[in-house]
Amino acid sequence: MAKKRIINEYPEISLDPAALEGHVDFEAIFGRKAPLHIEVGSGKGTFLVSETRVHPENNYLGIEWANRYYKLAVDRLGRWEIENVRIIRTDAAFFFAEHLPDNSVSWFHIYFPDPWPKARHNKRRLICTENVQQIIRSLQPGGVLNLATDHADYFEQMEEVLSIEFEKATLLQIPFTRASGAKEGETVGTNFERKYIVEGRKINTIAAKKP
Ligand SMILES: C[S@@+](CC[C@H](N)C(=O)[O-])C[C@H]1O[C@@H](n2cnc3c(N)ncnc32)[C@H](O)[C@@H]1O
Repeated sequence: MAKKRIINEYPEISLDPAALEGHVDFEAIFGRKAPLHIEVGSGKGTFLVSETRVHPENNYLGIEWANRYYKLAVDRLGRWEIENVRIIRTDAAFFFAEHLPDNSVSWFHIYFPDPWPKARHNKRRLICTENVQQIIRSLQPGGVLNLATDHADYFEQMEEVLSIEFEKATLLQIPFTRASGAKEGETVGTNFERKYIVEGRKINTIAAKKP
């Protein structure tokens, strides 16, 4: 019989969404001032496990909505005793609007966000005008939004939403930055990217910087 994996809790890296009020003080949460990278939809935490160790000079916050993935990510990050990471189980759009201070984020990493492929569900997509406004507001000048998706229609929506910002020069298009954990032929090396590459899907990327 297969052994059941024990999932541990690590309160030192888990942020309790109920304990947050208004804009978050990231310096207090991490116990130091450092560039803040936010990954939305961290899944099982693969990006965070590799990136946090390659860049100990940065603070990383993972936002994950699904309880099962959130718990797995906490368990993995906790086992590695990674100190420059925190993870929260909440809806990213709510977190952006309620808790992100202006000019506080160095990077947003959003890799393979749920595509909501049915037309009537498109409005649930994370990359939409409203959320991009929150991203721009909370990015520091020079801060980066790095996006990847396998989904052609969602990629078109990302390009449309961002092109409006490029025209207004509220964002500038820049080359996509590959993640430290990406192997040959990968852009970020997350679980979903690896699955999609095996399935032969095209991976689309787009990136932008706040001037
Ligand atoms: C397709 S998976 C990609 C996971 C990971 N980024 C990867 O590339 O392997 C999308 C993830 O985003 C999470 N998610 C979806 N909507 C979210 C939201 N509004 N806020 C936070 N996480 C969300 C899902 O629970 C899921 O884990």
